[in-house]
Amino acid sequence: MAQLQLEQIRKSFLNGESEEEVLKGVNLSLEKGEVTALIGASGSGKSTLLTIAAGLQPLTSGKVLFENQNLAELRPEQVRKIRARHFGFVFQSSHLVPFLTVEEQLAMMMDIAGMKVSKHEKETQIKNILEQVGMTHRLKAYPPSLSGGEKQRVAVARAIIHNPKVLFADEPTASLDSKRSKDTMALLQGVTKSLGMTTLTVTHDEEMLVYADRIVTMSDGQILESAESAGRFS
Ligand SMILES: Nc1ncnc2c1ncn2[C@@H]1O[C@H](COP(=O)(O)OP(=O)(O)OP(=O)(O)O)[C@@H](O)[C@H]1O
Ligand SMILES: [Mg+2]
Repeated sequence: MAQLQLEQIRKSFLNGESEEEVLKGVNLSLEKGEVTALIGASGSGKSTLLTIAAGLQPLTSGKVLFENQNLAELRPEQVRKIRARHFGFVFQSSHLVPFLTVEEQLAMMMDIAGMKVSKHEKETQIKNILEQVGMTHRLKAYPPSLSGGEKQRVAVARAIIHNPKVLFADEPTASLDSKRSKDTMALLQGVTKSLGMTTLTVTHDEEMLVYADRIVTMSDGQILESAESAGRFS
């Protein structure tokens, strides 16, 4: 069974007097252990689809199915709980809190996710995740002292510290150079496999598609094609 399933998603925005349909009946299944890359022209609806899949904004019609529950039908408080416990997010900019150390940012996420763990266990988990992203040496650092690539590695660690089932990333490499971008995507792919997550990432960069298992192209609010990454790009 798919980890997250989108069925006939439609989304319209009121644009002055007229209604503009930005998503026109999108179907998409996201499987466990897979990275799905969402590509397409600017304005085609990629970010809108991602935020709807993550329960961050309401949809006009359709279903977002996560573990047999339709997010579109749940109360906002129920969606908030699912999001905090089971979803992780990485955006173009790392959005780290400047006055919290790397360690404190991760501890805060565990609290938000409602994880009930001892102080010792918390420290161990934080160290483990930072090891995965190669940042243990900056445990006590504040974000302003980190490089762009390091900030994004901490952002990835923060997105996965609560062991989410689905990871959403919107242009996670847009502010990084080519080497850092590849490192970040390889990391996302690695943790998706090792933690058995499902990852949906928007990207503009063709070079990043080798790190995806599946490539989905959006055009004018619809999905055009879906391809396996291997074979097409490797
Ligand atoms: N809150 C909103 N109100 C009105 N229109 C919106 C809103 N959010 C998005 N749109 C419109 O929906 C369309 C799709 O936007 P979206 O941000 O999903 O595109 P995108 O594919 O992510 O583009 P980009 O690659 O530039 O990030 C655009 O025309 C945008 O202006
Ligand atoms: Mg976008």
